[in-house]
Amino acid sequence: MYRSHTCNELTAKNVGKKVTLSGWVHRRRDHGGIIFIDLRDRYGLTQIVFDPEFDKKALDVADKVRPEYVLKVTGEVRKRIEGQNNPNMSTGEIEVYIDKIEILNDAKTPPFEIDIEKGVNEELRLKYRYLDLRHERLQKNIILRHKMVKMIRDFMDKEDFLEIETPILIKGTPEGSREYLVPSRLYPGKFFVLPQSPQQLKQLLMIAGFDRYFQMARCFRDEDQRGDRQPEFTQLDVEMSFVEEKDVMEITERLFIKLTEKLAPHKKIQKKPFPILTWKEAMERYGSDKPDLRFKMEMTDISDIVSESGFGVFKNAVTSGGVVKALKVEGIADWPRSELDKMEEVAKIYGAKGLAYFVYRENEIKSPITKFLSEKEIAEITKKTGAKKGDIVFFGADSFVTACESLGQVRLTCGDKLKLRNPDVFAYLWVNEFPLFERDKETGEIGAVHHPFTRPMTEDLKYLDSEPEKARSVAYDIVLNGVEVGGGSIRIHEQKLQQKIFDILKITPEDAEIRFGHMLEAFSYGAPPHGGIAPGLDRLVMLFADEPNIREVIAFPKDQKAKDLVLGAPSVMPEKDVTEANIKIINEKKD
Ligand code: AMO
Ligand code: AMP
Repeated sequence: MYRSHTCNELTAKNVGKKVTLSGWVHRRRDHGGIIFIDLRDRYGLTQIVFDPEFDKKALDVADKVRPEYVLKVTGEVRKRIEGQNNPNMSTGEIEVYIDKIEILNDAKTPPFEIDIEKGVNEELRLKYRYLDLRHERLQKNIILRHKMVKMIRDFMDKEDFLEIETPILIKGTPEGSREYLVPSRLYPGKFFVLPQSPQQLKQLLMIAGFDRYFQMARCFRDEDQRGDRQPEFTQLDVEMSFVEEKDVMEITERLFIKLTEKLAPHKKIQKKPFPILTWKEAMERYGSDKPDLRFKMEMTDISDIVSESGFGVFKNAVTSGGVVKALKVEGIADWPRSELDKMEEVAKIYGAKGLAYFVYRENEIKSPITKFLSEKEIAEITKKTGAKKGDIVFFGADSFVTACESLGQVRLTCGDKLKLRNPDVFAYLWVNEFPLFERDKETGEIGAVHHPFTRPMTEDLKYLDSEPEKARSVAYDIVLNGVEVGGGSIRIHEQKLQQKIFDILKITPEDAEIRFGHMLEAFSYGAPPHGGIAPGLDRLVMLFADEPNIREVIAFPKDQKAKDLVLGAPSVMPEKDVTEANIKIINEKKD
């Protein structure tokens, strides 16, 4: 028997008992001939004591023990002496006096300490991920992830959803990201594609009549990495038949509230039911399609005030179809010039050409642009934004999206600086009525904002032929504290309408036939109205665990360059395997 108890179980109630524990040496202290070790397992820590008066032989063995050795020990539970209790440990009232010790395995000195987590380079952490995962914080994250998945499965089961697995080796799907290809050995020159999501398959399941489907689905996207993106991630993939947008929202919202109340009870949900903002409103007021609603700081549109302005930048923005937006930030008029320059840099990263501002000082407005504006314009801007002494108003003049987004980023940066993003609050909201299409900034080509199976709003069908960019979609995102934690839509279920969308996207009938002939055909066999959503599990766990990045909640994540540092993937394959897969390497990257 390796253990009678875990390292988190023993309390004063067990005093006098003979127990056996197994675990890792977490911390070792030599107190003049008496050795204290904190023994660690997944459950916690127990202090074990090697005292020459209790057992000299055990002490001699313990003397050889180093951090991260694996031990099996047997001994007697004793109450700690007065004043030595550790209230931070659930086993803090006791210690175990050891008379039998077996070293189950020794350990090299780890490349970083397991008992203190600080300043370890991330590359090292990812290379030795199995050691990194010994840290309490990461153990907690992985356990939280398990609990969330379990709770989701139980919830979905109760609501009559069926968990159905869909294949990983599939065909390319037009969801916007670059895909991972898998060469086929049996069909030389042909490829499988790893799913960006099970989108098409879940829609086919609706046609099959499965009504309410879900899956903890692994998705693969060959995209550039960011803190909230991984090339491999997990979605709670959901699809439902005979539903409207509000039905999908209702069930998702109920699930999210339950998860929050059970797994993050310390977080206060800002508003229930979750507010719903249209994409336009979210952009106009917060400069983002995933606004952080934990703080107000709303933007104002001043296009009407400056449409005839003497300040060319403002006037031209309006006359060329764009807007001028203003963002009032209270109480920061004493910020030094260097801070304002930093804000301008932020705005520029998001496409702004500059960042004009008014600083409301005692009896004057300091600004690089007041000299170009009339008294009336200045007074109207002050009135419309409600600015007063001590405030700064920032301006963005550009196309609607660029002006809103660049100021939106300034808003977030100010929110951070002013500590307005309260970590104890969960501000959920829905964003809906997204544009159906968008034009690529570089190529000018029209593409689907969500994916081409997304349903246009009925009242906007009239735009499809003449001005498709005006059409909005029945698509919705769920946002939490400024992070998009899920997205979905009601789908097109009519073959004709689907064909029309493919036409607008300039997917030729031949191309559509090759790529989605199966979908178009399936729609012709009685497809029910359907829709769904896919919350991103990794992002949710990240926010629940107060982590800044999803790598912290994935057992074996890829690094920022999309590599697996533990296994060393991707890697060179033996020539035989490459030839067998019918692949010819054209350009090898040495790295
Ligand atoms: P979408 O592409 O919006 O929709 O993805 C849904 C959710 O998945 C999460 N997510 C990611 N998480 C980590 N790393 C990534 N690279 C990544 N990409 C996306 C986000 C996002 O909100 N098939 C549709 C869903 C549907 O219409 O039902 C889809 O995949 O939280
Ligand atoms: P300029 O006329 O380029 O010297 O700019 C005068 C001020 O307006 C500077 O503070 C710029 O940062 C700002 N500015 C320039 N272009 C824009 C723009 N498109 N939107 C907002 N501010 C701008």
